[in-house]
Amino acid sequence: MHLDALKTLAQTKSDRRIPDLFATDANRAEVFSASTGDVVFDYSKTQIDDEVRSALIQLCAEAGLASRRDAMFAGEKINETEGRAVLHTALRNLDGGPVEVDGQDVMPEVLDTLQRMRVFAEEVRGGAIAGAGSNFTDVVNIGIGGSDLGPVMATLALAPYHDGPRVHYVSNVDGAHIADTLRQLDPTRTLVIVASKTFTTIETMTNARTARAWMSEGGGDPSRQFAAVSSALDKTKAFGIPEAHVFGFSDWVGGRYSVWGPVGLPVMIAVGSNAFDAFLRGGQAMDLHFRSADWDENMPVMLALVGIWHRQVLGHTSRAVLPYDQRLLRLPAYFQQLEMESNGKSVAMDGSTLAMPSGPVVWGEPGTNGQHAFYQLIHQGTDVIPCEFMVAAEGHEPELTHHHRLLLANCLAQSEALMRGRSFEEARQRMAQQGYLGDELDRQARHRVFPGNRPSTTLIYPKLTPFVLGQIIALYEHRVFVEGVLLGINSFDQWGVELGKELANSLGPIVDGEESAEGKDGSTAALVAYALKHRD
Ligand code: F6P
Repeated sequence: MHLDALKTLAQTKSDRRIPDLFATDANRAEVFSASTGDVVFDYSKTQIDDEVRSALIQLCAEAGLASRRDAMFAGEKINETEGRAVLHTALRNLDGGPVEVDGQDVMPEVLDTLQRMRVFAEEVRGGAIAGAGSNFTDVVNIGIGGSDLGPVMATLALAPYHDGPRVHYVSNVDGAHIADTLRQLDPTRTLVIVASKTFTTIETMTNARTARAWMSEGGGDPSRQFAAVSSALDKTKAFGIPEAHVFGFSDWVGGRYSVWGPVGLPVMIAVGSNAFDAFLRGGQAMDLHFRSADWDENMPVMLALVGIWHRQVLGHTSRAVLPYDQRLLRLPAYFQQLEMESNGKSVAMDGSTLAMPSGPVVWGEPGTNGQHAFYQLIHQGTDVIPCEFMVAAEGHEPELTHHHRLLLANCLAQSEALMRGRSFEEARQRMAQQGYLGDELDRQARHRVFPGNRPSTTLIYPKLTPFVLGQIIALYEHRVFVEGVLLGINSFDQWGVELGKELANSLGPIVDGEESAEGKDGSTAALVAYALKHRD
């Protein structure tokens, strides 16, 4: 079964409507969902039926998914373009056995670093490690991409568990970001964590130097008040960060998969080591599920197959991630990096041109806010955008259960509306009741038609606890992995970000006015000239 055969199959079913699938199968919601622990992934509001699911599952066997998965967990160098193992799963392997890379068990070091993080985080929280002034009131994490998005997302998500110092994140090289952050802080009571896998990223190193100067000038002590998270320990030393404040990780942890290890340090300082452990255990639980469940009951696999169905088979170019959970505000941005940096590639693992579309554009915002902004296009635009809803059965505010019921009702209403739509006849009846007649009645009715038959999935979980957050993040990581295997690409490199970095370096002296823009294209040269002219 190749994608072409799946496309043909899809065509034979193209006139079917999702609501009709429910009409003919009373158990559809149960049959077309997967669960693990208390989390349920419902993909019944899609066009997938038994035949389609079997055909999609056949892709897994053809791509050798089981052996690729086992190779990843076993520490084989599946990141072939960088010659690296892919073992972020080892960072949450709290109760598992040894994991070997090049014949060496990596678990003792992983657990040792985790223990050092716990001690450091608790000492920061308790005041045993303090600033030049007194105990730390604030932590500033300086990092970008995978060294920022994961901890930002998780800190926001776990706000109800936040009982440590305030945590701020600076990522953008735009001086506005660090200026606005530091302005409110006491340099003698702020801990700065510089998070960079490579410790060379220009944005992060520029911000780190600015923060160091700010601290020194304000009476703080960078030799005590800086920590680093990196896999380049020689560079953290050269920057002057004491060894006891440096938390290393290996090259087999990709930046966008790194929140489980030292990159999660600011989260641990915010919520405490017990809550962080629960987050790791949630990830580990999803790993165990991914490794053991049959494909049709395997949540990451089914989430990936739904993705392949919508993107590569039906051709929908984007998917929306719509958490009905305000604390998941940064989850869509986190998934953007996870999915688009991993599977946004047009070359297959063997160097050939990809014979199918790459991964989709991923975007989104929490509901209900999005409903009052861009849902118009999702409901009535000309493009079909598969939606991935997420919602908790209950919130964290017992005194505000009426808010949560409204939130849940809205989430369910949206997926129902997308699926059911509203026919011309129904719209016409409504407008006739309002007194419209003749041509004007038809014209007004047409604007109120919803095509319906628009696919969505819903991930529902009991409550957004650290454990559940861990399950959700690991679920999407494995989804990306499965999609990558089925597309035949390497999900663990990111060569596509390099060219821009190189050109930014070469433009530096030109923008500084030290070199001429000769040789640059006309547009770039004109924009440089504009910037130089309008500079003070
Ligand atoms: O440029 C892309 C990237 O390398 C991401 O993959 C990574 O998450 C980010 O930059 C930050 O890299 P680092 O942690 O090495 O500073």
